[in-house]
Amino acid sequence: MIDHSTIERIFDAAQITDVVSEFVSLKRRGVNMLGLCPFHNEKTPSFTVSPAKGIFKCFGCGKGGNAVNFIMEHEHLSYPEALRWLAKKYHIEIEEKEVTPEELAKQNERESILVVTQYAARQFTENLFHGHEGMALGLSYFRERGFADAVLRKFEVGYCNERRDDFTKKAIAAGYKTEYLVSSGLTIDKEGYMFDRFAGRIMFPIHSLSGQVLGFGGRIIKTDPKAAKYVNTPETEVYHKSRIVYGIFQARQAIIKEDRCYLVEGYTDVLSMHESGVENVVASSGTALTQEQIRLIKRFTPNITMLYDGDSAGIKASLRGTDMVLEEGMNVRIVVLPDGEDPDSYSKKVSDEEYRKYLKDNETDFIRFKTRILLDEAQSDPVRRANLVREVVRSIAVIPDQITRTVYVKECSTQLGMPEEVVLDEVMKLRKQESFRYRNAWPGQETASGNLSDMTATTTTAPSQRHKKKEETSFYSEREVIRMLIRYGSEVLTRHTDKETGTETVTTVADYIISEINEDGLTFDDPVFAAMYDEITFSVNQGLIPGDRNFVHHANPAISAVTVDMLTEKDTLSRIWNKHGAYVETEEMKIKEIVPDSVLKFKGDKIKMMQKEIRKAMAEAAGDDDKISGLQEQYKAMTSLQKKISAGLGGRLII
Ligand code: CTP
Ligand code: MN
Repeated sequence: MIDHSTIERIFDAAQITDVVSEFVSLKRRGVNMLGLCPFHNEKTPSFTVSPAKGIFKCFGCGKGGNAVNFIMEHEHLSYPEALRWLAKKYHIEIEEKEVTPEELAKQNERESILVVTQYAARQFTENLFHGHEGMALGLSYFRERGFADAVLRKFEVGYCNERRDDFTKKAIAAGYKTEYLVSSGLTIDKEGYMFDRFAGRIMFPIHSLSGQVLGFGGRIIKTDPKAAKYVNTPETEVYHKSRIVYGIFQARQAIIKEDRCYLVEGYTDVLSMHESGVENVVASSGTALTQEQIRLIKRFTPNITMLYDGDSAGIKASLRGTDMVLEEGMNVRIVVLPDGEDPDSYSKKVSDEEYRKYLKDNETDFIRFKTRILLDEAQSDPVRRANLVREVVRSIAVIPDQITRTVYVKECSTQLGMPEEVVLDEVMKLRKQESFRYRNAWPGQETASGNLSDMTATTTTAPSQRHKKKEETSFYSEREVIRMLIRYGSEVLTRHTDKETGTETVTTVADYIISEINEDGLTFDDPVFAAMYDEITFSVNQGLIPGDRNFVHHANPAISAVTVDMLTEKDTLSRIWNKHGAYVETEEMKIKEIVPDSVLKFKGDKIKMMQKEIRKAMAEAAGDDDKISGLQEQYKAMTSLQKKISAGLGGRLII
């Protein structure tokens, strides 16, 4: 772990123009620097760097952030990786947090295992390409199945000899410790007798993002009904099945280039796709994707296309597992292969061009596909139809982006022959459920309080995309209040001199907003804004005002991205004034008006939402008179508060 003071030193050293200039040629334009955006194709520069604020922002594609965000985005690195990258550039020695003996032991074990797996992979390829047995059994098997040597080399495919302890013996003779042979999963210790886990199997090394061998999948060659077709490395200090996808090391560049990732089931499918010229492909190894695996893919693209074998049993089984991918905000498409074919067999049947064309021409959107499959199955059975609607609604409800959800509601209601409002209503109902609430919280949230090393790269555009449009919520007014806080928090709003004592009380924008909001016990619904508000109130209570810099350089990329957005957008006020034809005033000149307005709007929105909740509760409580009259009381209180607030909005509270 990188300790906090080192992180601070890195942030201090990493001058934004300096960092960006490594990749983009910048020209001075007033106080800012301007260049061609490295994140999207453009001919006229809209990529702006502000040395004063320490941020970059592209007004074409919307990406923005600080120096660390830039490196994360540009180099596809996680947060700690980007910090290390910058530390190296500025010759800052990384002071790792003091490690406990246990941590040190784990670290050593990890390194020792990686040395062993690397050695094993080399032995296995040696066996396959040059050993008698490997060539006779392994290589001939691959050749028979039509795999060329080049692809086998690319994936470091190998062979483990049949004799029960062939590998283990050789490894020990070469000086490797049995302890690590066992903890790497390659050797099994059976009451002191050491033998190979993978004897007689062809070996597929599973590589990390950077190409280290984490573990293996071993496929049997001979037909033996008693033995498993595949044996895999068990969980070890370095191999965690749920965190890695097969082929990502060989696919990462192609995934970025194509901005799409194909997902298949098996090792051989990945190899075959590469042979057909489709290199942006990874395998789930026969199970549904985990959240960690999805996030790993998402570091490179938001677009995923799943390839299904052409038999309907398999398709149905995998329908449900896909909700997780939707939930992560990925765009999911499906390709169903011809009956009885898997990616491997079909790629061998047709030419590379035909294969690639098939993938292109047969892509369907996942939800549309799912609806169709279930419709076919349900036919006119009313019970099954009801279940089907629930299934489809569930898939739509997990999608984080509201616009996308709306589009699906429209489409699926047509497909299902149901009124749009009914489908929408079901989707909203599901989203209101507790279990849904925080599922789509901001990326990296669970790591915000400490474990930085686990934080994977989150592109700086993700949060703003997520917040594109939030109707019927207090999103905009929450955002505006936060914007007022970070932009003008320390400005003086009012001065009041006590006539008797002569002492002056100064109220800053932050003081005012916080007391207004806390007095009414109001909270923020959006998790990013809620976290920012917490941090601001914490600082204010300590007598500090957090300037926007703190948030620009926030360790949570969602927060720094939101902040950059807020600092770079044009003043809302000047636009309004313009429209009315009056002269343009800056926001700064008007904070005495716009700050209270933003608070009133925030309160108004909160009340509206609470009233909506109460109306809903009333509908649900139909028949229960006591409950209803209680709710009516609440509603009345809200209405009178509402009146006060609208009166306030009309006039000015502070002169
Ligand atoms: N798998 C596994 N253990 C098994 C069977 C399968 O781990 N006993 C995983 C493997 O990762 C395998 C994937 O599930 O690659 C898909 O299984 P399958 O389609 O049976 O294997 P293929 O990889 O397609 O192998 P082949 O084409 O050689 O039959
Ligand atoms: Mn197969």
